[in-house]
Amino acid sequence: MGLIIAPSILSANFGRLVEDCERVASVADWLHVDVMDNHFVPNLTIGLPVVADLLAQVSTEVDCHLMIDDPDRWAPGYAEAGAASVTFHIEAARDARTLCRALRSHGARAAVAIKPGTPVSAVRGLLREVDMVLVMTVEPGFGGQAFMGECLEKVRELRTHARSGGLDIRIQVDGGVSAATIERCADAGADAFVAGSAVYGTADPAAAVTQLRVLAEGAAGRAWWSDRC
Ligand code: DX5
Ligand code: ZN
Repeated sequence: MGLIIAPSILSANFGRLVEDCERVASVADWLHVDVMDNHFVPNLTIGLPVVADLLAQVSTEVDCHLMIDDPDRWAPGYAEAGAASVTFHIEAARDARTLCRALRSHGARAAVAIKPGTPVSAVRGLLREVDMVLVMTVEPGFGGQAFMGECLEKVRELRTHARSGGLDIRIQVDGGVSAATIERCADAGADAFVAGSAVYGTADPAAAVTQLRVLAEGAAGRAWWSDRC
């Protein structure tokens, strides 16, 4: 499996969202869409109607990161609308196993996220039900925050589990991922990288994605967990 670079549209211009998505379409693997409900996190973005319209306008796979309460109720709708992956937070889910199965039954990748304070043990029993684990490297809610390097220990732990258990899961990092930090993420075991301000905060978002990919691929190729080692 190759590495995934997913620009987060949280740092794009919401007044010209489709245009900003197109600016990275030729180089991005997925578009990362942050859904926030002002309950699970203290910020509010967009919900299902806007995501559904966006899905109809863009050809890049959409990776929905749901920072919302009651994902058991709301997350399947994003899968049904055509999101390629749907990530819910374990801290908010009631029945994560059933939710994963519902997401997959709609043809989406099922993914579970953990906040910086949540240990890997909270999702260990779920690793056979998910396609991806998202390790947050900032407190969820806002773009442009400082990277929390201590969260990489959890990336390392998850990659170790995945390897020893023969699990085919991606490990995604989100928050403060930039040219200065992406190599550390790849070295720890991440193979999917979300970047908001490091992409849309630059004059040339497509060039920024390409630079992140080069750095991540270099570091992953040298990493302890790489098949190429
Ligand atoms: C934050 C979101 C991130 C955000 C990352 O809670 O989940 O996806 O866009 O932004 P940066 O890359 O600027 O930290
Ligand atoms: Zn996100």
